[in-house]
Amino acid sequence: MSVNESGISAQLSEAIKIEADKINHLLTKYLDGSPEELYNSAKYLPSLGGKRLRPFVTITCGRMLGATEEPLYLSALGVELLHNFTLVHDDIIDRDDYRRGHPTVHKVYGEPIAILTGDLLFAKAFEAVILAEKLSGSKGVAQQLVNAAIKLDEGQFLDVSFENKENVGMEQYLEMVTLKTGVLYEAAAVIGGLLNHATMKEDEELTALAEYGKNLGLCFQIRDDYLGIFGDPKKTGKAVGNDIRRGKRTAVTILASKFADNKTLHLMSTISNQDKVDDSVLIEVVEGLKRKGIDSKCMDLASSFGLKALDALSVFPDNEQRRLLVDLVNYAWKRDH
Ligand code: IPE
Ligand code: IPE
Ligand code: MG
Ligand code: MG
Repeated sequence: MSVNESGISAQLSEAIKIEADKINHLLTKYLDGSPEELYNSAKYLPSLGGKRLRPFVTITCGRMLGATEEPLYLSALGVELLHNFTLVHDDIIDRDDYRRGHPTVHKVYGEPIAILTGDLLFAKAFEAVILAEKLSGSKGVAQQLVNAAIKLDEGQFLDVSFENKENVGMEQYLEMVTLKTGVLYEAAAVIGGLLNHATMKEDEELTALAEYGKNLGLCFQIRDDYLGIFGDPKKTGKAVGNDIRRGKRTAVTILASKFADNKTLHLMSTISNQDKVDDSVLIEVVEGLKRKGIDSKCMDLASSFGLKALDALSVFPDNEQRRLLVDLVNYAWKRDH
């Protein structure tokens, strides 16, 4: 397997590109409407790219279990629409100015329109999966996305409430990220599996997809936390250091509270709640964290969930889709954007 430095195999890179192109095409078609400014705003964030990993999970899991193409793409579209909704509202909540390398929706269109844009993407997501469910004749597809949306909201609430809470530990952090990120990856995988109504699914297969999705999502989010401080903003398209400035509980800050030296912890506390932070201070924090091995501890944590995701795939026989799902775990763990 040839893998480049960001952990992506040539096969996975090609497969994601093919599916991303199809999802991009569907997104543009699906987000046409009037009033024009509202729909332009709804198209804005999807048009800026994005890795399209969640719909890729749906498509690959679905194909592995024999789903038919049309409902598969529609449900994958629904998953990506819900994800984009979360990003629009997340950037308002987190007061972030950049996403996918460009100004966030609320920076371009203002907060009222950004809130409405998020609401529209949310509703469109359910429209797409309900249609997919009808076309496939399967049951429980839309319900999966409903459950994910509810849990995601609970997770985002915990994320916000932790900003003002002392002593948030690893267990609470993991509960929060399972809800805000793990559940949508879980739904993405299970929805793919549910779409083949011709075969009665073994519970074991759906449970394995759920385990795969959830643990892939955790691995992915912990790597996201890592990139939020140790990453290159030119590659991630998001500012570094904002998690610390906002007092966010991330894998890095939780590990830092346990393992960082007092000087670094003090520097981190002086940064929090500041509007702007000197690059030199940020560099000092990064160096302090690296001195105590917090970067590699964070990667070890991500890899523990990556391994669980790989384990979950063991119930499926070797095939092209399963190999892509394996490669995706490696990518989630090592990605640079
Ligand atoms: C960002 O997700 C939000 C997280 C859960 C960390 P992605 O990194 O998948 O965002 P895009 O869609 O590729 O921009
Ligand atoms: C990602 O939130 C999870 C959701 C959007 C539900 P974060 O706030 O951790 O991620 P980024 O860094 O803004 O993408
Ligand atoms: Mg955010
Ligand atoms: Mg957030």
